Amino acid sequence: MSKTILITGSTDGIGKHLALKLASEGHEVILHGRNPQKLDQALTDIREQVPAARLHAYLADLSQLSDIYRLTADLKRDFTKLDVLVNNAGIFAGQNRQLTKEGVEVTFMLSVLAPYVLTTELLPLLEKADAGRLIHTSSYMHHFAKIEEGDFSLEENYTPSLAYNNAKLYTIWLTRYQAEQLEKAGSKVTVNSYHPGLIATNLVKNSRDEKSQKSSSDKSNQFVPKGLDEGIKTGYYLALSDEVENRSGRYFDEKQEKRVSLHGYTPEKAAKLMDYCQQAVANHAILSVDKSI
Ligand SMILES: NC(=O)c1ccc[n+]([C@@H]2O[C@H](COP(=O)([O-])OP(=O)(O)OC[C@H]3O[C@@H](n4cnc5c(N)ncnc54)[C@H](OP(=O)(O)O)[C@@H]3O)[C@@H](O)[C@H]2O)c1
Repeated sequence: MSKTILITGSTDGIGKHLALKLASEGHEVILHGRNPQKLDQALTDIREQVPAARLHAYLADLSQLSDIYRLTADLKRDFTKLDVLVNNAGIFAGQNRQLTKEGVEVTFMLSVLAPYVLTTELLPLLEKADAGRLIHTSSYMHHFAKIEEGDFSLEENYTPSLAYNNAKLYTIWLTRYQAEQLEKAGSKVTVNSYHPGLIATNLVKNSRDEKSQKSSSDKSNQFVPKGLDEGIKTGYYLALSDEVENRSGRYFDEKQEKRVSLHGYTPEKAAKLMDYCQQAVANHAILSVDKSI
């Protein structure tokens, strides 16, 4: 049966390739991007290969909460239900720690805060599907996270790798926490996270450029990335397979549930992560009021 599927960051890499595959199978795909030219190009490229594709396209910079709220308002206006939300957009940031207007480090913003707000705002649409699915994109790199309690924005020890690895760990915490909350609320919506594999995309190129500036003998540079067909297998499986029906709060790699490094996860610590996200949302509300005065 055809599904309505939103993929964030579908102007390139894994997100765009997954959108093409799903559109080619007759699913209604909602593309998203931050760059208008790339979004148009993604629409054109998919339509060229799938002339009958049922596509929609929405523009939003997910490093800006105002854009995220505009996007979710537009989606709630335009759709009555959403079967799958794939929180795919992500970055490997540069050497200089960059903050959003609310003071959130941008890697965290893309991998944790944006998925949190998108999920919260779009949950009513997912609840209207038969069994809505939320998919958060984590990474194998979460195993290398090094967290200090409460330092979600890496004020003291920022490096691009640490920001990335930690954000991908917090993506797994977010998944666990949301799965517990959804189950408690009696919701049929499931939430899982996954690692797509090491895939040749701009993000991997950026991470290698950053790492090679630091050390030309970085071991992670010796692994050969796989192609996009490999990179969409697990995301596709989580979006559509009957095998994951009713499975929630898990982490997948190569279409299988895998062990995670939780780095001391407890529901209490996850609640602190949620508090941090809610505080950023509150700061955003204050900044928006100030601007309107
Ligand atoms: N590739 C891998 O080996 C690998 C491994 C593990 C996990 N992942 C995860 O997989 C996901 C997809 O990454 P990818 O490898 O496909 O990278 P990619 O080719 O760089 O694609 C990233 C997508 O996110 C979008 N994006 C970035 N910043 C954004 C912002 N501020 N607002 C809105 N959209 C934004 C990009 O838009 P533009 O087109 O405008 O840049 C692009 O569409 C990420 O979450 C990544 O961390 C990738």
